Amino acid sequence: MESKFDEKLFVGEEPVTIFRRWLEEAKATEVNDPDAIALATVDKEGLPNVRMVLLRIIEDDAFIFFTNYGSKKAQEAFLTNKVAFNIHWKSLRRQIRVRGHVEKEDGMIADKYFSEREVGSQTAAWASKQSETLTDRQELIDRWQSYKNQFEKNVGRPDFWGGIRVKPTQIEFWADGQYRLHDRFLWERELGEKSWSVRRLYP
Ligand SMILES: Cc1cc2nc3c(=O)[nH]c(=O)nc-3n(C[C@H](O)[C@H](O)[C@H](O)COP(=O)(O)O)c2cc1C
Repeated sequence: MESKFDEKLFVGEEPVTIFRRWLEEAKATEVNDPDAIALATVDKEGLPNVRMVLLRIIEDDAFIFFTNYGSKKAQEAFLTNKVAFNIHWKSLRRQIRVRGHVEKEDGMIADKYFSEREVGSQTAAWASKQSETLTDRQELIDRWQSYKNQFEKNVGRPDFWGGIRVKPTQIEFWADGQYRLHDRFLWERELGEKSWSVRRLYP
């Protein structure tokens, strides 16, 4: 049987380079938000929770998304200091799964990212008490307007909003194959280690 997929897809010295390469390809083929990830956390009962966030920064050794630190996802992420995420591109028929440990990124990187957002979105970060009960949507609009009037131009980053850095200990690449003979490569390492080991998995 002919192999439908290209073995070169999975080739790389380390997984973050492969991640970046796949994301670049997805930017050309996805309808929108090629960097949207499904982020999983668990609550204090151990019940999983999952929601989409945008993966905005890929460092050589870590991934960063941005959110409200008071939100459910942030509370849960820092309850265990562990998260997992999945990124799936329908257009490429590929997915990448990441598991790892988290830390806050509330320094210069968060300031820079926040400063590059539209003023309206910056203001929304101030206005939203993310994940809290909102009884009337008008209350959110009023809060947004009131911050907007207050700030005019220079909106600083709220200290309750910033980045969460995921330091991966597992990254798994999956690509679709004919007859569901898909292909998977799992990269693993211990927390704090630089080097990775890699193995192929049955689909
Ligand atoms: C495509 C997409 C991208 C999103 N990106 C973000 C994001 O980058 N940060 C964020 O806080 N919420 C983002 N959201 C909203 C979250 O999915 C979620 O509704 C919100 O963060 C509250 O989640 P929580 O209550 O579990 O904290 C996004 C939603 C979608 C559908």
